[in-house]
Amino acid sequence: MAKIKRIGVLSSGGDAPGMNAAIRAVTRTAIYNGIEVIGIRHGYQGMINGYFKLLKTFNVSDIIQRGGTILKTARCEEFKTPEGRKKAYNNLKDRRLDGVVVIGGDGSFTGARIFNEEYDIPFIGIPGTIDNDIYGTDYTIGYDTALNTVIEAVDKIRDTASAHNRLFFIEVMGAEAGFIAIRSGLACGAEAIIIPEIKNQVKKLRSFLEEGFKRKKSSNIIIVAEGADEGGAFGVAKKAKKDFQDYSVRVTVLGHIQRGGSPSVYDRVTASRLGYAAVEALMDDQKSAMVGLQNNEVVLVPFRKAVKLHKEVNWELLEIANILSV
Ligand code: F6P
Repeated sequence: MAKIKRIGVLSSGGDAPGMNAAIRAVTRTAIYNGIEVIGIRHGYQGMINGYFKLLKTFNVSDIIQRGGTILKTARCEEFKTPEGRKKAYNNLKDRRLDGVVVIGGDGSFTGARIFNEEYDIPFIGIPGTIDNDIYGTDYTIGYDTALNTVIEAVDKIRDTASAHNRLFFIEVMGAEAGFIAIRSGLACGAEAIIIPEIKNQVKKLRSFLEEGFKRKKSSNIIIVAEGADEGGAFGVAKKAKKDFQDYSVRVTVLGHIQRGGSPSVYDRVTASRLGYAAVEALMDDQKSAMVGLQNNEVVLVPFRKAVKLHKEVNWELLEIANILSV
């Protein structure tokens, strides 16, 4: 294959802290290797509409510490259609792009995979989502920062919960998975953690909290993943209320604060490593694959696996959290 001369980079799906650090790493690694970089704005929608901008080294200055994404992002329905992908391909060809780096989650990689089955321009993915729900990588960019945001908020709620002897149900993000809930729950000493992977947990809540009640714990924090089958923190609190009549119950939904803020050291370093690896992968003629981290080593995982296979939550962490919360 001819040497790669020009590549595109885009962010797609929900933004995540560290995406900017990844854009910076892709841009600077490519330029270092004599490759031109085109920033594609607004994700796949920008690929379809032709929102392209040449990125120079200085365009990615002063962004490693910023949340959000300088390239903007979108969830694009049109890219799911053959017509949308054809328009995108024509634009990439017009601009003479030899490869594209997609920073996003499993929805973005599903689109990238289909595109690479249809067209000859290689796509390489970088996992960027606070949810950490992508098979083939131990961490996704943004997860660590989101966890830090969650525990900072929960620590504050703990102060007021204990001042009033209250029972708090705190909802965290995570889409259909409990990664954020389990890790943040362990880190903030939650009394219980409710995740989508386990059904009907409300029934067991009373027995979970029993020991704490006996010794009159002054506060109880229940972390609820938004995808929990009982309907997020409000749904769980409503169902649980009759079992906890002696307690004053409150609900907090942390929401989109979990997606913003300056990325943690871990996310900046991971984004830098994976951004570098993504460009190397394109230079090595790789395609239709994601760069990820396994046991702190950079690996290449085919999109086929990353989007099809299910990543399990860490059950051991949940068990530890349950044991330690008594
Ligand atoms: O995938 C990231 C995420 O923040 C999920 O945790 C959440 O369910 C979803 O995106 C929210 O999406 P939106 O910002 O489009 O409402």
